[in-house]
Amino acid sequence: MTFDSQYAAIYDGIYSAKDYPFECAFLLKLFQQYNVVPRRLLDFGCGTGGHAVEFAAHGIEVMGVDPSPHMLRSAAWKAQERGVPFFASEVLPVGESFDAIVSLFAALNYLPNRNAVEKTLCQFRELITDAGIIVLDVYNGAAVPFLSDHAREKTVLIDGKKLVRRTQTKIDWVKQRLEVCFECIPEDGDAFRETHLLRYETAAEFTELAQRAGLEVVSILPSFRFEVPTLQDYNLLYVCRRHPSQSERSSLRKQPKNNASN
Ligand SMILES: C[S@@+](CC[C@H](N)C(=O)[O-])C[C@H]1O[C@@H](n2cnc3c(N)ncnc32)[C@H](O)[C@@H]1O
Repeated sequence: MTFDSQYAAIYDGIYSAKDYPFECAFLLKLFQQYNVVPRRLLDFGCGTGGHAVEFAAHGIEVMGVDPSPHMLRSAAWKAQERGVPFFASEVLPVGESFDAIVSLFAALNYLPNRNAVEKTLCQFRELITDAGIIVLDVYNGAAVPFLSDHAREKTVLIDGKKLVRRTQTKIDWVKQRLEVCFECIPEDGDAFRETHLLRYETAAEFTELAQRAGLEVVSILPSFRFEVPTLQDYNLLYVCRRHPSQSERSSLRKQPKNNASN
């Protein structure tokens, strides 16, 4: 199991420099460019709720989905502290509807294979409204083999105590997989490890997967910048909408029976 209790407990400390309010403000501006002012938003792979809670603070009804109950528990605490509502689930809901869906900080790269990504994108298509928007922050497959460090070390202070995280990354560029081994050494406790298995697609591959799932990629940006992406960008934002043909089909589905037979 990844994002287990020990790793979940240090997650916010490790990523304390990540600017969640800025990223959410960026996403709200991006939604606006597509005339979407979300009322209900789904955050897939929401983790400890850094984005989810920020969106909820903007008055948006947010559902966070994540398979790690430890990460979801942190998100629920954060929401309680901020005094905002937050709906959590370990699996994607069925039969609900959202006018924005996001999946941020490479959560989709944790899916085990390409079929799982396509299936998840199909589920997003079922959950998004016709005029809604989907924003997916995933690895830039063309850049990953060149930009990944093989060994890294980061020292952070968590509640005044030093924690060192050592990262070893192995890349299989043929299978487009990453094995990332984290060794965490707290100043005042036992060291522990987690190994994360991730995979990645190039922009062409991801766009094709989205199309197969009935989505249209309407824009690709570098993560959290209104610029043209380059090979220096490790993460990309794919802005997707329901494919127009899917929207027509869904409006046909919604017509009353007697109209449909006319
Ligand atoms: C790097 S964290 C990102 C968390 C959060 N989106 C953020 O920006 O801080 C990746 C998240 O993906 C979640 N994850 C792992 N496997 C997943 C899966 N199969 N489906 C959905 N989420 C998954 C993990 O539990 C973790 O919370």
